[in-house]
Amino acid sequence: MCGIVGYCGPRRVVPVVLEGLRRLEYRGYDSAGIVYLENGKLIKHRSEGKLSNLEMIIDSAIIAPAHIGLGHTRWATHGAPTTNNAHPHSDCSGDLVVVHNGIIENYHSLREELKSKGHRFSSETDTEVLAHLIEEYLEDDLVSAVKEAVGRVEGSYAIGVLWTGLPDTLIAVRNQSPLVLGTSTEQGTFLASDIPALLPYTNEVVFLDDMELAVLKADSFKVYSLISGSLLDKEVKTINWNAGMAEKGGFKHFMLKEIFEQPQAITNTVSGRINLESGSVELPEVNFGKEDIGRIDRIFLVACGTSWHAALVAKYWIEKFAHIPVDVDIASEFRYRHLLVNDRVLTVSISQSGETADTLAGIRLARKLGSKVITICNVVGSTMTREADGTVYTHAGPEIGVASTKAFISQLAALFLFTLFLAQKKRTISPEKSRELGKALIDIATVVEQELPRIQADIVKLIDNFYDCRDFLFVGRGLSFPIALEGALKLKEISYIHAEGYASGELKHGPIALIDKEMPILALVPQDDVYQKSLSNVEEIKARQGRLILIGTEGDSHLRKLTEDVIYLPKVPDEMNPILYTIPAQLLAYEIASKRGCDVDQPRNLAKSVTVE
Ligand code: F6R
Repeated sequence: MCGIVGYCGPRRVVPVVLEGLRRLEYRGYDSAGIVYLENGKLIKHRSEGKLSNLEMIIDSAIIAPAHIGLGHTRWATHGAPTTNNAHPHSDCSGDLVVVHNGIIENYHSLREELKSKGHRFSSETDTEVLAHLIEEYLEDDLVSAVKEAVGRVEGSYAIGVLWTGLPDTLIAVRNQSPLVLGTSTEQGTFLASDIPALLPYTNEVVFLDDMELAVLKADSFKVYSLISGSLLDKEVKTINWNAGMAEKGGFKHFMLKEIFEQPQAITNTVSGRINLESGSVELPEVNFGKEDIGRIDRIFLVACGTSWHAALVAKYWIEKFAHIPVDVDIASEFRYRHLLVNDRVLTVSISQSGETADTLAGIRLARKLGSKVITICNVVGSTMTREADGTVYTHAGPEIGVASTKAFISQLAALFLFTLFLAQKKRTISPEKSRELGKALIDIATVVEQELPRIQADIVKLIDNFYDCRDFLFVGRGLSFPIALEGALKLKEISYIHAEGYASGELKHGPIALIDKEMPILALVPQDDVYQKSLSNVEEIKARQGRLILIGTEGDSHLRKLTEDVIYLPKVPDEMNPILYTIPAQLLAYEIASKRGCDVDQPRNLAKSVTVE
């Protein structure tokens, strides 16, 4: 989704804004722009495509002695990704500019109204309406004009405004699209859609909530409620991420770096939460006591994309160990179906960003219907964590690659902890079993760490025969089924190869018709409780000459008889297989995409944080 960066302070604004935009590139975008105020005039540059195009045209502006400005990366919604549609957008006078994330739903009628009043539009975007609407209300008080303008607007927005009439001030407004302020006595005041843009300068941040307006100056900021009009006392939070965490650190891509950070992500997520002597799991931020659990007779897990796959794994765990029925929903479906949710239902949202529009809407709905809401989330202070009754933070650190890897693995770790937590509160597992499972979770980080380089080497050896194929199937049973879905999603999103994931047992109900000697099929066949069944499905594929890649348990010599392309993984407790078996699936997708020369970290059409419906 779009990215906003704003700055006012002692530094030269252009490099600060460009660096911020670079750090938001992962959000996905197709054009970019920047504006700064120099000698009382707004200087604006915009370009299609990557940020490097913008950098090329503003080469000389890098040294402009300007100290206030805004930047934007646009992910096209209304109007093609052209220079003309790129932000910032100006009013008729050219003295006021706006950058915007989100969608103005009533832009068409506003545009007609403004046109009839003589405003001249130069783009196809919904955003430009905002610039003209503010101009319409502006006399000499920018804050009042912005308030009046947003009062007319329906939809979701995070906006930044700069006006020559108020040359030391940026105005920001948030409604259903994330916006965060950064503050530092030495460095100045910052505005951004996400924390990584702020990390080179400050760790002190203020999250804006919906219907809040911020006034930013170099040495101060004020936040007002758009509902009550009152000045708010906002909490300044310290983020324990650093700028280096959002850099590639010698890896070719963020995605590869993040795959290799997974052992640490598991350890960080688990550490301090399991007592290995008593077996007990402590999740204090969850705000969920014994009485709450006694009341719950069903759990809804709600998420999108990769986070939804984590939810599918958790269903198996929670039902097995905590004996609570679990429904798993794609958030965009959950929010529009007839929900049988009440105060006996616990809703758990799973989200790396904590800002995904559909998931957020889902939990708001569930709360309205009386359900308690817990979120499994990676971003401290994100909207979901603020709206949920409790949070289990994953501690994956900033995830920059658009394709989720370490966030997924840490979601699995957090969901396993949550399973043990529920099972202990319900007394459905013994302390011995808790200890055994807790230890398995801690140990899996070491197993992944030891195996990663070898798995990568094995994958690199086999992809020559597969990287240029047109289609791919991924299959697995039981706990491996969601991992098959995740493997297929990873491959399709970063390599653009058509890939589908299936439960192995489903093959003969349709997809088996696709199998011939051209079709690659990656099958997950750990020696678990459904091993024999999985093997029968693999035999069916073999009988139809499918090109098998098997991922299975070390020492399982039978697999070699079925294909040369086997990746062996150590035997670990069955419950940990989803974590371990995800690694080769991720690496297969990564190595294939990399060999095909794809833009692995920023695949086409995708956004990291999907803040619109
Ligand atoms: C795929 C991927 C997406 C996200 C999805 C939800 O690799 O990253 O499918 O998982 O957009 O995002 P979050 O977890 O931020 O709610």
